[in-house]
Amino acid sequence: MCGIVAYIGHREACPIILKGLRRLEYRGYDSAGVALLNGALNVYKKKGKVNDLEAFIAEKDTHAHIGMGHTRWATHGEPNDSNAHPHYSTSERIAIIHNGIIENYAALKTHLQKQGHVFQSDTDTEVFVNLIEEIQKQNSCSLEEAVRLALHEVVGAYAIVVLSKDDPGQLIAARKGSPLVIGVGKDEFFLASDATPIIEYTNEVVYVNDYEIAVIRDGKLDIRTKEDVQQTPYIQKLEMELDSIEKGGYEHFMLKEIFEQPRSILDSMRGRLELEAGHLNMGGIRAYERKFVNAERIIIVACGTSWHAGLVAEYLIEDLARIPVEVEYASEFRYRNPIITERDIVLAISQSGETADTLAAIELAKSKGATIFGICNVVGSSIARATDAGAYTHAGPEIGVASTKAFTAQVTVLTLLAMIVGHKRGTLTDSKLRELMVELSNIPAKVEKALLLNTEIEQISEIFRDVPNFLYLGRGYNFPVALEGALKLKEISYIHAEGYPAAEMKHGPIALIDENMPVVVIATKDSSYEKVVSNIQEVKARKGRIIAVVTEGDTVIPPMAEFVIEVPATSEVLMPLVSVIPLQLLSYHIAVLRGCNVDQPRNLAKSVTVE
Ligand code: F6R
Repeated sequence: MCGIVAYIGHREACPIILKGLRRLEYRGYDSAGVALLNGALNVYKKKGKVNDLEAFIAEKDTHAHIGMGHTRWATHGEPNDSNAHPHYSTSERIAIIHNGIIENYAALKTHLQKQGHVFQSDTDTEVFVNLIEEIQKQNSCSLEEAVRLALHEVVGAYAIVVLSKDDPGQLIAARKGSPLVIGVGKDEFFLASDATPIIEYTNEVVYVNDYEIAVIRDGKLDIRTKEDVQQTPYIQKLEMELDSIEKGGYEHFMLKEIFEQPRSILDSMRGRLELEAGHLNMGGIRAYERKFVNAERIIIVACGTSWHAGLVAEYLIEDLARIPVEVEYASEFRYRNPIITERDIVLAISQSGETADTLAAIELAKSKGATIFGICNVVGSSIARATDAGAYTHAGPEIGVASTKAFTAQVTVLTLLAMIVGHKRGTLTDSKLRELMVELSNIPAKVEKALLLNTEIEQISEIFRDVPNFLYLGRGYNFPVALEGALKLKEISYIHAEGYPAAEMKHGPIALIDENMPVVVIATKDSSYEKVVSNIQEVKARKGRIIAVVTEGDTVIPPMAEFVIEVPATSEVLMPLVSVIPLQLLSYHIAVLRGCNVDQPRNLAKSVTVE
């Protein structure tokens, strides 16, 4: 996690860096700092948000045309001023910012302490910058060479930027495992963890690859591998719009992103669902169609909300394409000894495309010969580049830490995938395919309608804002939705919530139910409807407070529930795209009413690049 930004050029560096850090705060926000190179090498850093840093440096001399900044999500060492980045080397002649983890930092630190290096923080990053200083001293070499040699000694993940007082016109960056993008302007360069701090200055970017070192001096960018082999920078055009990374009149990014869903779902189908022509296309699978058709098994790896989208896909792919599916937490999968063969397809799902556990699971599956298909939102991200093929979700930048529109876009793409593969395998008939295509094309309008529930849900939220616990129940396609509803609530409102398959409740969680327990039951009209009605009865008999999400026009459940939320009817296999909307709104309003920081919940970060 952590966000890094740097600038070198003719403009004032500090305002660009601060603005960039605000855009990257979703990656971490427990402390922030800047280093500015202007003859002197000044580091200013502070525990807290970028606003705290800005207040702290208001009276300082920040004039510089070269600089770098960091917003932190703590790994080594608690959030405080001294653990904040940038870090100086012992001589204070070199400074570094770092996103990632240096795994062998303890051994390196002991060695460096013996050489006389003194440490001010508990971080692994300070070890990195002292290692560079020590190597430069021992070898009497250039800073660039010292960085290159240091990269051979560190084990772990990094995106770093290094500045030195002795090289006042130069900026050095390197990456392995953590993202790094360079924006190429006219005689100026912008570096960042993603393109959002860059987009307003230039749309030409270079994605730095693992084990590459970028040196920028005299208006030129030189990229070399760790083995010192020069590379030709591949400049790509960004397609992102500035509007898409601003709040656009909404109080929070999360609310904006919830309301963007009719559009983002449509974007994720664009060019893929051609209703009039009766075609489904997905460029990413074309070359792998035979593999999908003959797959003996599909293994899905993902984390968090993306894992919930994977669970929906398990129902979809098994239902429509009749291929056995296993859904794995990437973090567990990578550390057991999974049985994977060349006939398996591994589907990796990730909004950020940077999740360390998902990346590691991909590498493991690759080493066993499986075909890896990625479903990512962030274009050019590490996972998108590590997979054999894939499909972007095209949901647009998701900035609120709690994932909303990314989930529905993932489910949409997975639905299309299941439909395409099912049709090719002959398990989905022409008429059923056509029926689903029509219904899928109606989903954006149904989501729009579900969003009209906003005021009603805000009122329900008032009633439950102070409860300590919530239970979410669902069956079949709505079971992953129950999990997702519970995750949304706990991560932004800090209310303990559990999602459960409705029928499993009687094997334990039913003991929790009394007159104080709110139970959200997703009970839309589908093949398990009657059974879920029985589960509602079981909750009611124990005086649980039922909030039921039902299909419009339901007359059976309303008399049993304290609150009823009606969503538009749709096909059972598409229902998660609609039934998740009120749950997103419920968590949002409860969190706002509790005074929580919805877009930046405590202890979380948007992009989890550490394991
Ligand atoms: C929850 C949330 C996280 C992410 C998880 C995976 O709202 O955002 O649970 O879903 O960290 O992230 P990605 O999808 O970027 O791999």
